[in-house]
Amino acid sequence: MAEVKTDMSELFDKAFNSGAAPVTYGQGDRLPRGDYAGAHTDYTCDQNWAAYDACDHELYRRLYERQAAQLPGLACDEFIDAVGHLGVPSRIPRFDELSDKLFRATQWEVVAVPGLIPEEAFFSLLSQRRFPVTGWIRKPEEFDYVVEPDVFHDLFGHVPLLFNPVFADYMQAYGAGGLKASQLGSCEHLARLYWYTVEFGLIRTDAGLRVYGAGILSSAGELRHSVTSALPQRLGFDLERIMRTRYKIDSYQSTYFVIESFQQLFGATAPDFTPLYERVAQLGELSAEDRFPNDRVF
Ligand code: PHE
Ligand code: CO
Repeated sequence: MAEVKTDMSELFDKAFNSGAAPVTYGQGDRLPRGDYAGAHTDYTCDQNWAAYDACDHELYRRLYERQAAQLPGLACDEFIDAVGHLGVPSRIPRFDELSDKLFRATQWEVVAVPGLIPEEAFFSLLSQRRFPVTGWIRKPEEFDYVVEPDVFHDLFGHVPLLFNPVFADYMQAYGAGGLKASQLGSCEHLARLYWYTVEFGLIRTDAGLRVYGAGILSSAGELRHSVTSALPQRLGFDLERIMRTRYKIDSYQSTYFVIESFQQLFGATAPDFTPLYERVAQLGELSAEDRFPNDRVF
């Protein structure tokens, strides 16, 4: 699940009358793919597991197989150890069964949503330890790349690390922090933290750099690229710098930020961000390519 900015117009009236307003990336005229009219006002909906057909399950299996084969030596151990909790790779998991397991481990649940949801709804669910997972799966022709997050990205990329107690607490703190950032008008700065940690984060281990970001873990090509390519820069985690750094949504990242541990991430983000938001607004933005003398380069 990613955070989003723009709402869409055409289905609004219908959606407001029944449930939740549809949400898409950007201004485009593309209609959202999910059934927003069937969602509750908190944007959750039924997974409707029975509606997946054999092709859907087969596509999930192929996606899972391709990513699982690449994990050793690239994904962090915490992810590899937990990915089996998703259940058999041969079919799209039932969210209710997965939630039972996850709740026993870290008191988190997964809930179905029609697709992208507004920031405040997203933050609110995270703050309640409910992780929103898109119900629909991409089409076979989108095997390598899908523009919006689908059930494979949301489940395979995000859910395994919710079994890790420290990461699980970070995600809840992020949600609560998001509700506060909304009040302060600082969502854009906070979204960069999500992007450079939850979606595209790397972690340093004794065996070398490893991936913990969901956007990389669910990507066919970026998993290897992020760890081994000489092209991108890999910089030490720096909260203020991350909040200033713009990101790419349509190509591999030019910059990755590297944490030492989930504990470091949790500790560094615990203080009140209010003064930081003010400072970051003063300092201004950086491009994803900028490099500074005091950056810690890996
Ligand atoms: N400490 C942050 C704040 O005061 C909350 C937060 C925690 C945000 C963890 C993101 C991640 O806003
Ligand atoms: Co995501």
